[in-house]
Amino acid sequence: MTDANLSKRIDDYRLKLGGKEYVPLMLGGMGVDISTRELALVFAQQGGIGHLSDAMVPTVIDRHFKTRYVGDRLKQYKGNVDNPDKSIAQFDLAELREAQTRHVDEAMSAKRGDGGVFINCMEKLTMNNPKDTLKVRLNAALDAGIDGITLSAGLHLGSLDMIKDNPRFREAPIGIIVSSVRALKLFLKRAARLDRLPDFVVVEGPLAGGHLGFGLDWAKYDLATINQEVIQYLRENDLSIPVIPAGGIFSGTDGVEYLETGSAAIQVSTRFTIAEECGLTDEAKQAYFAAEEEDIEVNTLSPTGYPMRMLKSSPAIHSGIRPNCESYGYVLDAKGHCSYVDAYNEAVAAHPDEKKVTVEEKICLCTHMRKYKVWTCGHYTYRLKDTAKQNEDGSYQQPSAEHLFQDYQFSSHNEINKPE
Ligand SMILES: Cc1cc2nc3c(=O)[nH]c(=O)nc-3n(C[C@H](O)[C@H](O)[C@H](O)COP(=O)(O)O)c2cc1C
Repeated sequence: MTDANLSKRIDDYRLKLGGKEYVPLMLGGMGVDISTRELALVFAQQGGIGHLSDAMVPTVIDRHFKTRYVGDRLKQYKGNVDNPDKSIAQFDLAELREAQTRHVDEAMSAKRGDGGVFINCMEKLTMNNPKDTLKVRLNAALDAGIDGITLSAGLHLGSLDMIKDNPRFREAPIGIIVSSVRALKLFLKRAARLDRLPDFVVVEGPLAGGHLGFGLDWAKYDLATINQEVIQYLRENDLSIPVIPAGGIFSGTDGVEYLETGSAAIQVSTRFTIAEECGLTDEAKQAYFAAEEEDIEVNTLSPTGYPMRMLKSSPAIHSGIRPNCESYGYVLDAKGHCSYVDAYNEAVAAHPDEKKVTVEEKICLCTHMRKYKVWTCGHYTYRLKDTAKQNEDGSYQQPSAEHLFQDYQFSSHNEINKPE
């Protein structure tokens, strides 16, 4: 980076999207309710874009509003708990719509400031009926007034078709997350048929948190290269779609480097996992602060089939909890299958006399994400200890999201400023 760029700040740039201007800083969606409404609203208040996540939205709404979506579902399918075939446990689409509407409505009615609140829809949460459930989630979010949608993991090539009749189809910004030019090309081909291209493209590199669009050889790839390939591809095809890199952008200066080389904004998450407004438990936040590089791994424990980055100390790992598909069931595929259910049943069959089994190959993602026991995190989580003040007992103080946002927005010269 040149000396001139070292003194630049993210605030020197603006993202233009859907006829609006934003501070070019986006909060990546973090399910399940890790990127809370409060966190997303700080981004909107500060002029950036915050993402809600709609992962497991009925249970999130139960927790916040004392509704009984999960309890009612369990009551309905209780008789199926011991059955390895989970196909019967379908989601009630009217209830799903109701929960999504409430989720979005609560955020939009509390929104202040010039920024935006978008929603991250992780398509790999197939919910025992991938098409109908996704269609309901997307349309309900638009109807409830969400500012924009980001389609993530599992990218369904038919997603745009699902909302093509929605009155906001051409008005609300819709973006996609890709990790390669190949995935982008596939999506653009399908989108061209509807004459409705994505309004922005998030390029997620191998250092991101959550599920990754890379294999266990993730370390061979780097965000800067893939991001430039995407920018280049769009230029060559005369497509002026804003490109937003994500994954490992840890300081304002890191962000400037991307903004100087053709990116329209940056998407960040890891630095906000320890914010006061983040949904993770205090125990998890302190584990993130304490983490060293060797405490973080990319593994294949997620039943979605995608590699996932997490702390090796995540309580979910090796837990042999009985599957809760009759209550949750968000990972069930179109045939009612989840690879954790298979792994659990094999473990039980192998140890018929044991009351509690250990499941090594997979984790029960729904149950453990719901309880914040999967400590998924970005690669640079081990640097979080440099971003906050430490107490005398060795624990760390959680910065406010506003402080973190402004540190990204206004810092220069590779500085990271701790709260006063
Ligand atoms: C705790 C955590 C949970 C995440 N959950 C999701 C998710 O549910 N859906 C998604 O598309 N991305 C998810 N991500 C990825 C982020 O949205 C983001 O793109 C990425 O982590 C940015 O890189 P950074 O964390 O290094 O700043 C998650 C990231 C973290 C750290």
